[in-house]
Amino acid sequence: MKTFSKSSHLRNVLAKNKLSGKTIAFVPTMGNLHEGHIQLMRQAKKMADIVVASIFVNPLQFGANEDLESYPRTLSADKEKLFTEGVDYLLFPDVEEIYPEGMDKQTLIVVPALSDTLCGANRPGHFAGVATVVTKLFQIVQPDIAIFGKKDYQQLAIIEKMVKDLCMPINIVGVETARDVDGLALSSRNGFLTEEQRSIAPALHQTLLECRDAIACGFDSYQALEDYCTEALKHAGFEPDYFSVRDAETLQAVTCDTEEIVILAAAKLGKPRLIDNVTLTLNPSQDWGMLAVH
Ligand code: PAF
Repeated sequence: MKTFSKSSHLRNVLAKNKLSGKTIAFVPTMGNLHEGHIQLMRQAKKMADIVVASIFVNPLQFGANEDLESYPRTLSADKEKLFTEGVDYLLFPDVEEIYPEGMDKQTLIVVPALSDTLCGANRPGHFAGVATVVTKLFQIVQPDIAIFGKKDYQQLAIIEKMVKDLCMPINIVGVETARDVDGLALSSRNGFLTEEQRSIAPALHQTLLECRDAIACGFDSYQALEDYCTEALKHAGFEPDYFSVRDAETLQAVTCDTEEIVILAAAKLGKPRLIDNVTLTLNPSQDWGMLAVH
């Protein structure tokens, strides 16, 4: 695996690969790689000739009071994992490489329809930061395919919309959330949980599953379910940010046209803020009966 800190150097190498007809899959990350990231790399390997990963802790997507400084940085362990998975190229730029003129006057990519709700409601500018850096990375790598985890459901929806709206010729692929045996979604932030918090953390996924079961059984008072689940999370020791039942495509309230539901939650458990989601495909012909769950 070859590591590049300069985007122009990576671009030159990739141009040669493209000329010889090779397809490129790209996996952008912020490092501190865990099994969830590894599954993204494996998916990338299956789908293209060349796999490019990036590690860049993007300051533009962190708010003033967020964990930019303490975000875990584990480059040598990450490189070892990427090498083991057969990743071909790693882009590891510094902040000046990505934002040479600083971030204040950076042109921003904003996906208005999906960015101000859920995680965006309490993290102003977060998704503009994500969409902007992903666009820059896409411009550098120019991949055929880009792979993202479904744990960050809203992020994936925003990137899919951005790619469509801006006619980017990139196939966006979402990969199922990797979980620990007790259901906790894998995340770089799990490492900040104390032993006691770690034992409480699976309750987030459990509560999402209970909510999904209730809907699958025909319970359609979503507000009541959201309130009940929010209280359940508080009772377990979380500080919920939101617990929300939404249309999986629009991320707006469920309507009679909704074909798939997504239930999303974000909650702080001590310092770390955990997010997770589950989906439920509705079968209109069976009067809102359950068809498939993820
Ligand atoms: O999901 C992440 O790790 C980041 O938001 C991403 C997509 C790499 C952009 O910085």
